[in-house]
Amino acid sequence: MPLSPEIQQEVERLRREISHHNELYHSLDAPVIPDSDYDALVASLEALEREHGLDDLDSPTQRVGGTPLDKFTQVQHEVAMLSLDKVFSEQDLLDFEARIQRRLEDESPLEYSCEPKVDGIAVSLMYVDGRLQRAATRGDGVTGEDITHTVKTVRDVPLQVPSLRKGSQLEVRGEIFLGKEGFARLNRRALAEGSKTFVNPRNTAAGALRQLNPKVTAKMPLQMYCYSIGVHTGLELPSKLSEVFTQLGNWGFSINPDRSTGTGIQSCLAYCLDLLRKRVGLAYEIDGAVIKVNDFKIQQQLGQNVRSPRWAMAYKFPAEEKSTTVLDVEFQIGRTGTITPVARLDPVFVGGVTVSNTTLHNMDEIARLGLRIGDEVIVRRAGDVIPKIVKVIEPEKNSAAEEISLPDGCPSCGSPLQRDGEVLWRCSADSIGVVCPAQLKESIKHFASRLALDIEGLGDKLVEQLVDADLIADVSDLFVLDVEAVANLERMGEKSAQNLIDAIAASGRTSLQRFLYALGIREVGEATAQALVNHYGNLDAIRQADEESLEQVPDIGPIVARHILDFMADAGKQQLIDRLQARGVVWQDIEMGSKNRALDGQTYVLTGTLEKLTRNEAKSRLTALGAKVAGSVSKNTDCLVAGPGAGSKLTKAEELGIKIIDEEGFLQLLDDLNS
Ligand code: IVH
Repeated sequence: MPLSPEIQQEVERLRREISHHNELYHSLDAPVIPDSDYDALVASLEALEREHGLDDLDSPTQRVGGTPLDKFTQVQHEVAMLSLDKVFSEQDLLDFEARIQRRLEDESPLEYSCEPKVDGIAVSLMYVDGRLQRAATRGDGVTGEDITHTVKTVRDVPLQVPSLRKGSQLEVRGEIFLGKEGFARLNRRALAEGSKTFVNPRNTAAGALRQLNPKVTAKMPLQMYCYSIGVHTGLELPSKLSEVFTQLGNWGFSINPDRSTGTGIQSCLAYCLDLLRKRVGLAYEIDGAVIKVNDFKIQQQLGQNVRSPRWAMAYKFPAEEKSTTVLDVEFQIGRTGTITPVARLDPVFVGGVTVSNTTLHNMDEIARLGLRIGDEVIVRRAGDVIPKIVKVIEPEKNSAAEEISLPDGCPSCGSPLQRDGEVLWRCSADSIGVVCPAQLKESIKHFASRLALDIEGLGDKLVEQLVDADLIADVSDLFVLDVEAVANLERMGEKSAQNLIDAIAASGRTSLQRFLYALGIREVGEATAQALVNHYGNLDAIRQADEESLEQVPDIGPIVARHILDFMADAGKQQLIDRLQARGVVWQDIEMGSKNRALDGQTYVLTGTLEKLTRNEAKSRLTALGAKVAGSVSKNTDCLVAGPGAGSKLTKAEELGIKIIDEEGFLQLLDDLNS
C-alpha cells in the first residue's frame, strides 16, 4: 500500500526530532528532554517504520548514538560499539530467554552475567603492548571521538597493564560515570563558590569527558566500571564473560562489585528485582540491569541485529526523570505561617510513583529555574527522595506561559505577608491578632501527628472539616468536642464520632516531650523537645527559663531560644497551654537527677534512609537515652537501625549477628523507653 502523505510527514518529523535530540545528547551533552521522552519518540518511529516496511539506513532508528563533534579527532571502532535492546516488564525478560532458546534449538537453561546498567558514558580503552594508547567515546557506534587526554585523568583507568605482553592489543570497554557522593560534592562546591549547580551526574560526566582542557576533567571525581572486551589480539582470554571480569580485575581494571552470575532467566529476574530494591542505596546511578549470555561461544552463535546483540538485554527500571507540564502554582501556608509555592503538575509516573505536585520551596527557586505556569519541565525523583523540578524545557518555545508572582496577601486569611529572612515569606496573622484558618489547620494536623499526640483517626481531611465547620478554634477544643456535632459531619456517624473522641481523650495521656513538640514552637523539633525535657524535667521550668538558661541546653542556640521565649511569653499561647492541661492533657514529669538513661553504654548505628525522623533527630533521641551513635558497624555495635537503601553496614551487621531494626521498630523502641 502506498504511504499516505500524513504518515510520510509524521515519519519525517519523528526522524528530524530524534536526530535533533541525538545531537543534543550525544554530541553536545546538553539534552533538553528526559531519556524516557526520547525512548518514546524512538518507539513511535520504530512502530511506524515496522508497520509500513520502511527501512531507511539513514533513519535514526538504525544508528546508535550521536555524530562525533568536529573538535575531537575521530576514531573508527574496529569492532562496532553496539547498543542494547531494552525491556520494561518481567514477561518481556522471560521472552528474551525463550527467543534465545528457540534460535539455539536448545531448551537448557543458560548461564548469564547480570550487571547494573550504570548511567554514564560508554568508553573504549585501547591498550597496545600493555600501554593505554587511546580512549574514545562510542559516538554513533562506528565512529567515536578521541578523548584520551581527559580519560587519562580518571583514576580507575590504568595507564599501563604490565601483564599484557609486547605485541598484544586489548580493547576494554566500560562506563565512565560520576558516583552519587562525587556528584553531591561537586554541587556543594558549586554552591559554596556561588556558581551554577549541575542537573544530573550523567550529563556532568559527559561534559567533563568532552573537555578540551584535561585539568578541568581532573577536578571531577569520575569513575569507571569495565563491562566488555572489543579488539583483542596476541593474548589468551577466558571463554566466559564472568571469567574475563576476574581477569580484568587482576589486571587492575575496576569492575562493578554489584554484578553476579546466574543460571536460567528466573535467577536474572530475581537479580533485577533485588537490584531495583537496592537502587537508592547504591553509590552510583543506574537506569536498569543488563543481562548477558555468559559464554562467548554462545554469544557468537546468537550474533546481532542492526544495533544490538541478540545475547544481551537491558531491563529498564522506572525512569527517574520525566517531563510534564506545570498546570498551576499554589501558595501553601504552614503551621507557623510560612508561605511555600507548590507546583501542581500534570500527573506523571516517575521514579516508581505518580507525582502530581511538588514543592518549589521559595520564590528564589522559581527565579533560579525561570519557571512559569504552563511550562514544560523535567521532574526528577530518585528512589524515595522528594520529587523536584530540575529544569524547564525549552522555555523560549512557550510564549503562552504565565509569570509566577507572590500573592498580595495570605491566600487563606488575607493578612499581609511579611518577609522572614532572605528568601522566605510568612502570613502575619499571628502578629496582628487574626486567626488564619490555614495556619490553624496545619497546627492541628501537627498536634495530632504521629510524633506529637498521635491521635488515631484524626487525618488531614477530618481536621479541615472540623475547622471549616467551626467546631474547633484551637487544639484545646479537640478535648471538648461534642459527639453529636462530629457525627453530623460528612462521612461521619455516631460510631466514628465516638471513636474519634475516645482517641483524642486517650492521646491526652502523653509525655512532656510529645506535648512540647505538639505545641509547634518554631524550630522545636522532636530532638529539641527531648533536649528541653532532659534539661528541665518539667513544663514550669521550661516556661520560666530565660535566654541564658535556654542556651545551656544542648543543641539550642540563640535563634531557637528566641522562638521558645517568644512562644512562652505570648499571652494567647500561655492560655492555650493552661486550657490544654485543664482539659485533660497530662504527663509525668521527669525526676531530675534520675534521667532516663535506658540505653546507657549501648552503641547504635544508623544506616539507609529514615522517613519519619531526620538523622540528627534519631541521633539526639538515642544520645538522650544514653546511647552512643557510631558511624560504622563492628562487633561492639549493639543495634543497627536500617532504613530503605541500607547497604554494606546492613550486610556486615547480618554477618556479625547484630540486632537489626527498621524505622518502625526504632520508633516503637523510643516510645517504649520514653513511656
Ligand atoms: S554492555 C553490546 N553493560 O548501556 C553490549 N552496557 O544501551 C553493549 N551500559 O552503551 C553494552 N552499563 O553505555 C553494557 N553493564 C553494562 C552497562 C552498559 C551501562 C550502557 C552503555 C551502553 C548502553 C547500552
